[in-house]
Amino acid sequence: MAVIRSVTSMQRLARKLAGQGKKIGLVPTMGFLHEGHLSLIKRARKKTDIVITSIFVNPTQFAPGEDLEQYPRDERGDIRKIKRAGGEIIFIPRAEDIYPEGFQTYVTVEQLTLTLEGKMRPTHFRGVTTIVAKLFNICRPDVAVFGMKDYQQAIVLKRMTHDLGYPITFIIAPTVREPDGLAMSSRNKYFTPEQRPEALCLYYALTSARSMVQAGEYTAAIIRKEMRAVIKATCPTAIIDYIAFTDFETLQPVQHVTAGTICSLAIKVHGVRLIDNMKLL
Ligand code: PAJ
Repeated sequence: MAVIRSVTSMQRLARKLAGQGKKIGLVPTMGFLHEGHLSLIKRARKKTDIVITSIFVNPTQFAPGEDLEQYPRDERGDIRKIKRAGGEIIFIPRAEDIYPEGFQTYVTVEQLTLTLEGKMRPTHFRGVTTIVAKLFNICRPDVAVFGMKDYQQAIVLKRMTHDLGYPITFIIAPTVREPDGLAMSSRNKYFTPEQRPEALCLYYALTSARSMVQAGEYTAAIIRKEMRAVIKATCPTAIIDYIAFTDFETLQPVQHVTAGTICSLAIKVHGVRLIDNMKLL
């Protein structure tokens, strides 16, 4: 297992591995890894010969006032976990190498970033697409794996991969949840034990939406109203950023749930902004 911190060393190794005919998998992360991240590494490992896991808390995707400074970090723990999950290479670049002085070149996906998270966090996706394009260029993966947990991010990055013509198989892997349903997230650690049960309001709202659809209710407005009630009952102080019903690929809003409709939501629970989503049909 190798931990690589230099961009040029990573580039050189990736080229060497490709020259040896090795199939490379890439799993980009911001560290503080949990089972959700590890599931992506395992998935990548099944499809490739060697997996690169990157750890980089990417400053350009955080807006001023977001949690860049306090974003949790545990490099030693991460390295141990990646090793156990079967990841061979860990790439931990330095910020000054990724964003050299005078940096001013960004990758932007235009339409898909205007809604949902993009609307609430206008500079976020530009940071995500730029770092992932840079990681693709450095690591030259054959396969890249991203989580459905960050649904819009996955769709935006899939579009970028296609539009820029990267020869990369793009995989979106399912969300891994805690036993009680809470989607695993590095940000869950911000909750005190007393606050933690209220974080379930997202999962409860999504499962109630799915149950309504299974019972034959397809009207988004009616389902949204019930979801608001479930959220209020679970976490009275929750602040709902959005509850959206969209087409899986286009992210366009739908009034009626059909096959492939995704319900996604963003909620502030005790000051922590959580996102989650579920396929309804
Ligand atoms: P991060 O939040 O660390 O997530 C890294 C990857 O893990 C993303 O593809 C995310 O969707 C996936 N992931 C997170 N929680 C998951 C869960 N519970 N189940 C399955 N997969 C999960 O997303 C980012 O970092 C960054 O934006 C990044 C893409 C690395 C660019 O900086």
